[in-house]
Amino acid sequence: MPNSEIVLKVEGLCVYFDNGGHFIRAVDGVELDCWQGQTTAILGESGSGKTITAKAIMGLIKHTPGVISGRILFGNQDLTANLEKICRVSNSNYGLTISKDTNHWHQLLKHRMAPLYGRKLAYIFQEPTRTLDPLLPIGKQIERVAARFSRAEGAGSRERVLNLLECIDLKPASSYVGRYPYELSTGQCQRLVVALVLLPRPRLIIADEPTSSLDVLTQKTVLDYLRSRQIQDHFAIMLITHSTDLVREYSQEVVVLFAGRTVERIATPLIDNGSQLHPYTEMLVRSESVRQVQEPAGKEMIDHSLTGCIYRQRCHYYRQAQSHLRGLCESENPPLISIGDGHQVACWKYQDSAD
Ligand SMILES: Nc1ncnc2c1ncn2[C@@H]1O[C@H](COP(=O)(O)OP(=O)(O)OP(=O)(O)O)[C@@H](O)[C@H]1O
Ligand code: SF4
Ligand SMILES: [Mg+2]
Repeated sequence: MPNSEIVLKVEGLCVYFDNGGHFIRAVDGVELDCWQGQTTAILGESGSGKTITAKAIMGLIKHTPGVISGRILFGNQDLTANLEKICRVSNSNYGLTISKDTNHWHQLLKHRMAPLYGRKLAYIFQEPTRTLDPLLPIGKQIERVAARFSRAEGAGSRERVLNLLECIDLKPASSYVGRYPYELSTGQCQRLVVALVLLPRPRLIIADEPTSSLDVLTQKTVLDYLRSRQIQDHFAIMLITHSTDLVREYSQEVVVLFAGRTVERIATPLIDNGSQLHPYTEMLVRSESVRQVQEPAGKEMIDHSLTGCIYRQRCHYYRQAQSHLRGLCESENPPLISIGDGHQVACWKYQDSAD
């Protein structure tokens, strides 16, 4: 895996929503790392838990879920230190034992996250309108963010504002200063959002499908801009996407989520070589886009009668397996097994190849 500093480490993250005593396991043991100057893509079909993972990391889940647990390290800071004493979940093949005060867990995490927002950690939403103020001219929005986060003299000055607009290709800049967000295209708005979240020079950007509402060319201009700034400023990116094309083009590592679980972690070049191992990753790589996956998503999260591997109902390996492997697949959910060079897969088929 990349030879740089780990900015974010997530271990065993679980978020279960209490739906009247019935748990929806939205996130169920997610493992991921983000490295300085590198992009980690989070890939999975709709409902696989990508956004809830990102929101849990940011302390942004609005409704207190039934269960939230796991370990989140930001640089050297353990944001969840001692929280496991507050909410403990033992989840052996869906037999849940919960001692909970999740509200307390959540509030403490939020409190610890607050000083990191903006300055160290930033979130780019799919819709730029969620970040931009519709009632304020964009020049004023830039001034406001620059004045709040930058101690540099004249940070919010007209000259700096014009420079920033030029950098994101809103030219001539002077004609854009007084415009409102509704007078810009979605692509222009998203480039502005990217430029705004980068102003405080955060260490990690979580970008949740930042370009899925854009056409292919505009998508490229926004992501190319983000990448050029990453090369300059060395921040880490967690790129949530449905697109295997974007994964190939913009990431160094891929974390594949299925039904809230990390099923594979693999360096992106290995995917280009066809070295992915999990049957779900294989299926995603074969599809041009995860959106082409035909199966209804999410039933694995709520069907508590399922035992064994959560992917079993879709797995072609399982259907062709010998009785020993079938027995394992039916009895227990596989843990992530290290295959080497940071490559990990959650599948019993590879247990003999483990490091
Ligand atoms: N407040 C909530 N209460 C109950 N279930 C929820 C809640 N929020 C999300 N979920 C469920 O959690 C699961 C994961 O949702 P999430 O938004 O993380 O999916 P996603 O992978 O981001 O999907 P998409 O690609 O469509 O954005 C889904 O099944 C969703 O229905
Ligand atoms: S553990 Fe078994 S069912 Fe699960 S992905 Fe591997 S082979 Fe398929
Ligand atoms: Mg989402």
